[in-house]
Amino acid sequence: MAEAMKGLHRTHRCTEVTKSDIGTEVTLMGWAQKRRNLGSLIFVDLRDRSGIMQVVFDENDIGPEGFEKAGKIRSEYVLAVVGRVEKRGGAVNESLKTGELEIRATGLRILSESETPPFPIEEHIQTKDELRLKYRYLDLRRPNLQRNLMLRSKVAAAVRRFMDAEGFLEIETPILIKSTPEGARDYLVPSRIHQGHFYALPQSPQLFKQLLMCSGYDRYFQIAKCFRDEDLRADRQPEFTQVDMELSFADIDDVIDVNERLLAYVFKETIGVEVPLPIPRMTWQEAMDRYGSDKPDIRFGMELKDVSDIVRNCGFGVFSNALAAGGSVRGINAPGQGSMPRKKIDALVDFAKGYGAKGLAYLTIQEDGSYKSSFAKFMTPEELDGIVKALDGKPGDLLLFAADKNKIVYSVLGALRLELAKNMGLLHKDEYKFLWITEFPLLEWSEEENRFVAMHHPFTMPMDEDLDKLDTDPGAVRAKAYDITLNGNELGGGSVRIHQNDIQEKMFEMLGFTKEQAQERFGFLLDAFRYGVPPHAGLAYGLDRLVMLMAQEDNIREVIAFPKVKDASCLLTGAPGEVDTKQLEELGLRLACQEKKE
Ligand code: AMO
Ligand code: AMP
Repeated sequence: MAEAMKGLHRTHRCTEVTKSDIGTEVTLMGWAQKRRNLGSLIFVDLRDRSGIMQVVFDENDIGPEGFEKAGKIRSEYVLAVVGRVEKRGGAVNESLKTGELEIRATGLRILSESETPPFPIEEHIQTKDELRLKYRYLDLRRPNLQRNLMLRSKVAAAVRRFMDAEGFLEIETPILIKSTPEGARDYLVPSRIHQGHFYALPQSPQLFKQLLMCSGYDRYFQIAKCFRDEDLRADRQPEFTQVDMELSFADIDDVIDVNERLLAYVFKETIGVEVPLPIPRMTWQEAMDRYGSDKPDIRFGMELKDVSDIVRNCGFGVFSNALAAGGSVRGINAPGQGSMPRKKIDALVDFAKGYGAKGLAYLTIQEDGSYKSSFAKFMTPEELDGIVKALDGKPGDLLLFAADKNKIVYSVLGALRLELAKNMGLLHKDEYKFLWITEFPLLEWSEEENRFVAMHHPFTMPMDEDLDKLDTDPGAVRAKAYDITLNGNELGGGSVRIHQNDIQEKMFEMLGFTKEQAQERFGFLLDAFRYGVPPHAGLAYGLDRLVMLMAQEDNIREVIAFPKVKDASCLLTGAPGEVDTKQLEELGLRLACQEKKE
């Protein structure tokens, strides 16, 4: 086996062989996708990361010994094939890049054998995710995953080319850092030398990139691993990758400008898609009012309409009570969905309840212009006409209304809008609609903690116009924060940073830190700011999300080589795993969960 490669040199990847190679000898190496035995001829589809090439074994070309060896080939055997490139004898296979060609083998070496794989190595498989992830190294052989990871590599390379050309320096920051509160839960790493002390894994390079600005590296970027111990979803992994950047002497427009050009460059270079610039911008408030979401999908309409003023004094308690309690009544129009069967409407009501709705009121407009509705009997004809007009209702339309606190109304209708668009087939994955969201609230009230928390992070600069509201009406202060969204996904986010110590201290105070606590946690940053700090701003993308959307996938797992599953475990390696008592002793740790059992 040690001599497996002796005398062999791969000349091409499978699909790098072209018509101009006809008549020449090539050496290909790869996996046997499939073998067909036609008596005097054996056909093998040879696969490598570039694709597939058909190989023909004919005893007349390869001799009896070689022919016998070819008869032993099974799926996923690793082969080296020497042969002549020829025009395909049989029918041309239009679905293959090399469909007009084949290799007439003159030599064969079996480089390694394979057991029967637990699932077929093909583009479309029905296999359960658990099995795919357990055998991820086989799953990764499938052409779709190979395409995705190749795209990811190309995206990363394009980002580096662009950032380098724009004068950004790629600087690495530490992975073992100090735990800082705010944001998601930290992953902790116990220290052996300092027993009872812990490192945290970075949730992002945020503080370090700000320090780099203090140090004069006026344009920084990094493709950085980040770690957050949060509940996982389709677009969330416990470890993920950011394209992270920071710019000195920059304000919002500087960040937006360089990032628009970055996005346009990357999309053009890797998937050939033109991104029209400038990318539209919308304030957070407008996004919430029109789409019920701070990451609106603007590939389709069905915008929210506020009908509160029309129904304020109506006889329908659900509406009037919600308004009396300070909430709102809003609706969306699902055009042409008026004939939706009752069962499907009920399913929408249940869907809405999943987002906190107490119910969902609906109204359909019949072909003769009359209404069918769950609440018409409580309203005057004028009120009904009013809300139909507000939603631009036409015969055949389905109107849906939610009445509640604003927060719930936004979240219910925002989600419903997406659900309807999905069911109506309005979401085209090859359409890319970018949108900047600006003027986010600086603070968000946390019911759980009974205090304000930073909506972005504690280093985000309030808008100049709102500085004086910090004391009087903190909830109304807007921030110099922005998100870049794509097709209803938060692709990235950033902000102009606070670089004045007094504002930063004020911010910590608003978040409920004492001076001592702030100094304990972030002292190094506050200290750095005392020695000449340039105004600075930055942004970070989720690289996994970006590549997911470019690859037209629904889950970031499909663009990560070795992802984790919902409970944050790795089905391939079995992480997280138990460790030896000796390892724990070295760290000065005892396990409470084990002591309980004993
Ligand atoms: P933020 O927390 O918004 O900002 O993160 C930036 C982007 O990272 C992606 N992202 C994730 N992707 C996959 N899995 C996750 N668990 C996950 N969490 C976040 C999202 C998000 O938009 N330091 C700031 C940036 C800055 O202010 O410059 C930050 O981390 O796409
Ligand atoms: P009920 O009075 O609970 O029978 O509700 C009457 C109609 O109003 C039903 O169609 C409910 O689904 C709907 N409904 C109930 N609560 C709400 C709400 N908060 N927003 C909108 N519609 C609601």
